[in-house]
Amino acid sequence: MKANQVEWEKVYSDDSIFHKNEFPSELIIQFVRRNYTSKIVPENRGGVKALDIGCGWGNNLKFVKQDGFDVFGIDFSVSAIESLKSNFGDKVVVGDISNMPFENKYFEFCFDKSAIQHNIKEDIPKIHEEIFRILKPNGKFFSTMLVEGSNGFITGYLNEEELKDSLKKFKEIKIDYITRTENNGRDKLTAYIIEATK
Ligand SMILES: C[S@@+](CC[C@H](N)C(=O)[O-])C[C@H]1O[C@@H](n2cnc3c(N)ncnc32)[C@H](O)[C@@H]1O
Repeated sequence: MKANQVEWEKVYSDDSIFHKNEFPSELIIQFVRRNYTSKIVPENRGGVKALDIGCGWGNNLKFVKQDGFDVFGIDFSVSAIESLKSNFGDKVVVGDISNMPFENKYFEFCFDKSAIQHNIKEDIPKIHEEIFRILKPNGKFFSTMLVEGSNGFITGYLNEEELKDSLKKFKEIKIDYITRTENNGRDKLTAYIIEATK
C-alpha cells in the first residue's frame, strides 16, 4: 500500500468527522453549473458521465448526482468508498487514480477537489495522463492543487512550468490562483484552480 493511501485510510476509518466532507465545494459547483448544468436540459443530463477523482466522503458526488448527471467516483480509501455504496452502488470504486479502471473516452467531465495534490510529485503527470485517456474529446477537467503551504498530508508541489508540462496533451489549459491565510495571517495557502479541455 502507498504511504498516502495508508494515511487517508486512517482519516476515514476513525470516528472523527474531520475530512468526512458533507457539503460540496463552491468551486466544483461553479465549474459544473457553468459548463454543464446551465447548458444541458434536465432530461439529457442522465446521459452525461462525470467522474469525481478522489471522491473521499462523497460531498461533490452528491451534488453532481443531484444536478442529474451520471456520476462516478474513485478513491483508494476502502472506508470512504464503503460509506458511499448504499447511495452510489457500482458507480463508486476503490482504486488508484494513477491507474483507473475506466475505458478510454468514457467521461464528459472529470473533477478533482484536492485529491491529486496528495500524491508524490513524480506520480502527478501519470494521473493527468490517465484523466486525458478517460475523457471524451472536448471533455473538461477541473482541479484544485496546492501551490504551497503545508496541510499535514503527503503533498506533491508542481511549479507552473511543471504543471503546464504535466497537462501538455490538453488543447486548452486555464490556470488561476486562489490564496488565503491561516493562523492570523502567518501561514499562506495558495492553490491552483485548473481547467483543461481535451
Ligand atoms: C483532501 S481529500 C479530498 C476528498 C474530496 N474530494 C473532498 O473534496 O472532500 C483527498 C482524497 O484523495 C484521495 N486520494 C489521494 N490520492 C489518491 C490516489 N492516488 N488514488 C485514489 N484516491 C486518492 C484520498 O483518499 C482522499 O479521499
